[in-house]
Amino acid sequence: ARRIIIDTDPGQDDAVAILLALASPEEIEVLGITAVAGNVPLSLTAKNARIVCELAGRPDVKVFAGCDRPLSRRLVTAEHVHGETGLNGPKLPDPEMPLQDRHGVDFIIETLRAEPAGTVTLCPLGPLTNIAMAFRLAPDIIERVQEIVLMGGAYFEVGNITPAAEFNIYVDPQAADIVFRAGVPITVMSLDVTHQALVTKERNDAFRAIGNRAGEAVAAMTDFFERFDLAKYGSKGAPLHDPCVTAYLIRPELFTGRHINVEIETRSELTMGMTVADWWGVSGREPNAMFMGTIDSDGFFALITERLARL
Ligand code: BDR
Ligand code: CA
Repeated sequence: ARRIIIDTDPGQDDAVAILLALASPEEIEVLGITAVAGNVPLSLTAKNARIVCELAGRPDVKVFAGCDRPLSRRLVTAEHVHGETGLNGPKLPDPEMPLQDRHGVDFIIETLRAEPAGTVTLCPLGPLTNIAMAFRLAPDIIERVQEIVLMGGAYFEVGNITPAAEFNIYVDPQAADIVFRAGVPITVMSLDVTHQALVTKERNDAFRAIGNRAGEAVAAMTDFFERFDLAKYGSKGAPLHDPCVTAYLIRPELFTGRHINVEIETRSELTMGMTVADWWGVSGREPNAMFMGTIDSDGFFALITERLARL
């Protein structure tokens, strides 16, 4: 199994990504979950991550709180997408499992130092603050990372928080810049991919028809999540972004992309957080990321439905 740390700001789609990972122990071993400020403030994302672990029947998973704000910019949140709690939709009980005492960034550093080099994959599903902070404080861990598989950025689908930028990168562009320059193998699930992973009514019904708590909760989440955006996504439903990351670890053949150079805009306010993706290789700059462009969305939703049924 791939051994991973999930870095997350739940978020309904983060929740589905976590459930998919925890439902797939043959392919994925979750070493721990680090929460970061993003969709909602840190106190809520750290709480939501534990709610999701308990929903998966896994109160033993270690959940850590990480950074409560971006490296240098003011925190921008997305209650307009996810609701006040970040996890609006289903009625889920407050978590009983503890939040770990250690800081999430320390957990990332200590885990990468303790485990054999090249055996731990980082899976960021929110702003990249915790990962960048860990790389800054402990540059020795960078070469020990097996791979970073993240949700963030866009090429053709450009922005969902500004016309130029995707939310996770926009919230902490300085952190994203550090991560994309680190020299670690990076796989990017951009809006180009996630906007092909739309929760249609049939797909939502299939979640509900699973008939267990997880299926019911996920159906309620995807009922709520980004439904405000029907004008944008039409009757096809809203994109399920973050589970593309964990689905990739289980079934990489669902995705295709290109190994290209990606740089992050950190200076211009107009295009702040833009992922400048050299899809056509015109810059001559070294490729630093596997930038995904297509997904087999039927295969993706079938995988999630099949795995949620195991919970
Ligand atoms: C990303 O932003 C968040 O709102 C979602 O959880 C996802 O990680 C999509 O742009
Ligand atoms: Ca997220």
